[in-house]
Amino acid sequence: MSYKEELFNALAFLKEKVNRKPEIGIILGSGLGELGDLAKDPVIISYRDIPGFPASTVKGHRGNLIFGKLRGKDVVMMQGRFHLYEGYPVNKVAFGVRVLGLLGINTLIVSNAAGGINEDLRPGDLMVIKDHINFTGENPAIGEEIDELGPRFFDMTVAYDEKLRRMARQVFEDSGEKFKEGVYAFFKGPSYETPAEIKMLKILGADAVGMSTVPEVIAARQMGIRVFGVSLITNMAAGINKEPLSHEEVLDISKKAGRKFIDIILRFIERIH
Ligand code: 6GU
Repeated sequence: MSYKEELFNALAFLKEKVNRKPEIGIILGSGLGELGDLAKDPVIISYRDIPGFPASTVKGHRGNLIFGKLRGKDVVMMQGRFHLYEGYPVNKVAFGVRVLGLLGINTLIVSNAAGGINEDLRPGDLMVIKDHINFTGENPAIGEEIDELGPRFFDMTVAYDEKLRRMARQVFEDSGEKFKEGVYAFFKGPSYETPAEIKMLKILGADAVGMSTVPEVIAARQMGIRVFGVSLITNMAAGINKEPLSHEEVLDISKKAGRKFIDIILRFIERIH
């Protein structure tokens, strides 16, 4: 089956199963997973049951598509995402977002856990993504042209919507949270970076580094979907301080900052129109 057939197969399956028209898609990264459990009137579909959908293999990530309402808005959430480091081709990593795009979302909220490079950031901080640097050379738009997924060449000047970022600033201020914005660098992982790599990223203008999000954002922009992204800084990147990095630390901070993260995103969704 071709990639296009796989996409439309998954779309047909979902259209048959759920009678919803969400305008907002949300990818729940580490720390935000529990937002999925807050959906009102939910329809929960396991990735395993959706034809063509990859299954999530990472600890701390679940594998459900959740349709429902948050603060009165119709949303669809991906509880669990796919990463290059799991061995999926970039096309598979972007599969879910593309299905959501074909379902008709016009706004995508992406979240992730990231390591802080900018020393103004602290573990537990939220960093609104204002731009990214793709350090992997991977791009989901490479390959066969599929008209429904957007044009071959497309603009990335304002990949992270300016209006949504302005709105976020207001939400942060209303919540008494310091508003921080920065550039997200995308590495494949799964090893964390070396201190020399982090030094390079710092010189090149990155504020945080992680292993996700960029493929989904590129696929969304190709489809003309506006994007809002937030990183939860779970630790400082290698060499920024003396602490060794561990996945347990990432999970621990995700858990502790999760409530704040969820609260901010809910207030944000309330304001979207
Ligand atoms: Cl330091 N690096 C990467 N690539 N991903 C991360 C991270 C660091 N901390 C959390 N996620």
